[in-house]
Amino acid sequence: MASSKLQSNAGGYRAEMDAAERASRDEIVALQTKRLAWSLAHAYDNVAHYKKAFDKAGVHPGDFKQLSDLARFPFTVKTDLRDNYPFNMFAVPREKMVRVHASSGTTGKPIVVGYTQADIDVWADVMARSIRAAGGRTGMIMHNAYGYGLFTGGLGAHYGAEKLGCTVVPVSGGMTERQVQLINDFKPDIITVTPSYMLAISDEFRKQGLDPRKSSLKFGIFGAEPWTNAMRAEIEQTFDMDATDIYGLSEVIGPGVAQECVETKDGLHIWEDHFYPEVIDPETGAVLPDGGKGELVFTSLTKEAFPIIRYRTRDLTRLLPGTARPGMRRMEKVTGRSDDMIILRGVNVFPTQIEEALLATDWCGGHFIIELTRDGRMDEMTVLAEARPEHWDGSGLTAHTEKVATFIKNTIGITARIKAVAPETLERSLGKAKRVYDKRPKG
Ligand code: DLL
Repeated sequence: MASSKLQSNAGGYRAEMDAAERASRDEIVALQTKRLAWSLAHAYDNVAHYKKAFDKAGVHPGDFKQLSDLARFPFTVKTDLRDNYPFNMFAVPREKMVRVHASSGTTGKPIVVGYTQADIDVWADVMARSIRAAGGRTGMIMHNAYGYGLFTGGLGAHYGAEKLGCTVVPVSGGMTERQVQLINDFKPDIITVTPSYMLAISDEFRKQGLDPRKSSLKFGIFGAEPWTNAMRAEIEQTFDMDATDIYGLSEVIGPGVAQECVETKDGLHIWEDHFYPEVIDPETGAVLPDGGKGELVFTSLTKEAFPIIRYRTRDLTRLLPGTARPGMRRMEKVTGRSDDMIILRGVNVFPTQIEEALLATDWCGGHFIIELTRDGRMDEMTVLAEARPEHWDGSGLTAHTEKVATFIKNTIGITARIKAVAPETLERSLGKAKRVYDKRPKG
């Protein structure tokens, strides 16, 4: 749904795209082939882990002649990065690195990633491109509510916006009252934030007696966690804005690996001149043809400090053909991480499916958590869903919750208990939302 605030410049955005965005598929493939050969050799020559892993698999960077040869090289997984904590995956002397970031990770040591100045420049370029694809233009004000610090969201978006020529308001996450005050006073055009925190900001608007639709915000760039088209509709409706999806991960660079464009909102353009995507069958590791749904794998093409070869992201999606950027493929919105997949009595469920079911109602605005418990030998799922203030009457809304349970039973095929809870009772995330609370006994 394009909001009334989108001032389409009648296709003029095509003229603003850079050379790589306008390149043909053949041109991108030629560039990728050249860059992949470099990246494989760079990793092999400078990172002990890659030398060992390639040798063990019996492949050498010299074996790479065309893109399909990449499938002969070994995957990299999270534990490889963890085992090389903190600096052993770096391919340049530490002095050449101008920055490190780290992913939080729920258990154990974090994963540390590093950047040379050239890497930071590439990152700013792909982020600037992403913001432009989302509707941002030079001269606009961008309210950046992604967290600053070791998380890549804040600084990644920040440098991209500066490169595009925006005025950045580096708010970071949290202090929601102040977020709303600054949006009101500074009148930003763009907001960058996780979709779940955007909901918290919208609640705060209402609490302060302000109409979010009257805010200055025109473009929202939402990512760092899975979210659905139903959530997009909710946010666009609430703020009268255009909401697009941004994807990225620390191991590959940070935000700005792929971005939806505001004109079509039909999947995320992967910036394939810097990141080479594959989708694999998570069980067998076989590369799937484009269109097949599986686990997304990335290889960096230009990164100096932290080259990454065939990294298994655990994110599930499929590759789609390029559209407005003919040389670059798109990826479908990520359904979820394989780690977040709930297996309930043999049926696979993702929190995004529950989000869709809840947002198909009018009484729930999208704040929810999923609790998993075990009663004897039976696993149970309870969804705690917050009611919108205008719908809450203290009764539990059972007629409504039963409808959602039936819908979930009919569409996903699982029995879930839906419990409506009062507004403002579930904990708000300041960044990535935690959706699943697994209270089943371990083991
Ligand atoms: O979340 C980078 C980022 C920041 C992306 C801001 C977008 C906006 P990590 O903390 O390393 O990096 O987490 C990466 O988050 O593997 C996905 O599981 C998930 N994720 C990121 N973007 C999306 C998205 C940042 N648009 C992990 N849709 C990834 C679904 C996403 N999941």
